[in-house]
Amino acid sequence: MKMFSIILLVVTASLAFGEEEVMKNLTTVTWAHAVNNKTYLEAALASEVSMLEADIVLGHLNGKDGPPLPIMAHPPATTSDLSLADFLTGVAQYNNVNAKQKGVKLDFKSIEAFEKSQEIIAPFSKPEVTFPLWLNADILPGPIKATTKPVDPAKFIQLAAKHPRAVLSIGWTTNYGGNITEGEYSRDQIGAMLRLVNEHHVNQTVSFPVRAGLASNSQPVLLDLLRETSSLNSSMTVWSSEGDNVEVDRLRALILTVGLERTYLDVPHELAAKLHLPPPNTNAKH
Ligand SMILES: *[C@@H]1O[C@H](CO)[C@@H](O)[C@H](O)[C@H]1NC(C)=O
Ligand SMILES: *[C@@H]1O[C@H](CO)[C@@H](O)[C@H](O)[C@H]1NC(C)=O
Ligand SMILES: *[C@@H]1O[C@H](CO)[C@@H](O)[C@H](O)[C@H]1NC(C)=O
Ligand SMILES: *[C@@H]1O[C@H](CO)[C@@H](O)[C@H](O)[C@H]1NC(C)=O
Ligand SMILES: *[C@@H]1O[C@H](CO)[C@@H](O)[C@H](O)[C@H]1NC(C)=O
Repeated sequence: MKMFSIILLVVTASLAFGEEEVMKNLTTVTWAHAVNNKTYLEAALASEVSMLEADIVLGHLNGKDGPPLPIMAHPPATTSDLSLADFLTGVAQYNNVNAKQKGVKLDFKSIEAFEKSQEIIAPFSKPEVTFPLWLNADILPGPIKATTKPVDPAKFIQLAAKHPRAVLSIGWTTNYGGNITEGEYSRDQIGAMLRLVNEHHVNQTVSFPVRAGLASNSQPVLLDLLRETSSLNSSMTVWSSEGDNVEVDRLRALILTVGLERTYLDVPHELAAKLHLPPPNTNAKH
């Protein structure tokens, strides 16, 4: 009898360990991009993917006029067949009847779009709703001398704080790819982000989206950023555009130094495969 209970204990302990390992490997989270129309939303919900990334601008539903409203579209588009309200309702309905929940990362392309989205988001940022909700914007100018206008940082952080269960995903505009193949996040750019987080007393989980080709050359400053924000359970989300120049070995070193438990990986399959991330520790099995 005694031996039996010991065996049971061992089995339970190894199971718990196994599950914990999976949960701590954030690179296992998979992403769909630009889920900005009805057809693609249906396809993404029917797929295995765990997070739906989508863009929000102020615009109009196809063929409708009236005051602009938050719709799913990527600039320069200002029309869509899908509003933010219908997008969130669709995801919530899916999650109500499926055990494995899908999360959303809402990428706001202007502060006006975020302001007009507050009441639409609110029902889904209540504590009793449990699917992952990320609020994302590029709020600071980044490498290399990016000229895209960032979303107003103070307003974005203040409004996002009204949705405390949401992950605050805040990054830099970037100018990379094409014939721009080298660059890094500067100490000043990282410092500006830290100052914002401190000045606004950010008190919700934070993830910093960083572009793979630039992040791989910025290990020291990114380690500082994550260390200084560790009380916010901060992580980085490594993303990359198709065709970006990426030093794979340096990116791998960055990811393993930061840790799989603090790194979301949202890059094209080809790049992900080249990383050869280490497999789970097989010693955990008996
Ligand atoms: C819907 O979105 C997907 C993904 O962004 C895109 O590939 C597709 O062309 C879009 N379809 C329409 C009709 O806009
Ligand atoms: C890079 O490409 C852009 C447009 O594609 C061009 O205007 C620019 O001169 C190029 N820069 C260099 C350094 O080749
Ligand atoms: C952070 O938020 C939590 C819950 O929303 C609250 O209990 C806590 O007091 C806040 N901490 C600070 C430093 O504001
Ligand atoms: C960080 O994680 C701890 C442990 O799960 C939790 O108690 C705390 O509220 C989290 N804080 C933030 C800002 O995410
Ligand atoms: C983490 O997840 C990645 C992607 O699914 C996988 O390739 C890798 O083997 C995993 N590593 C660990 C230590 O769990």
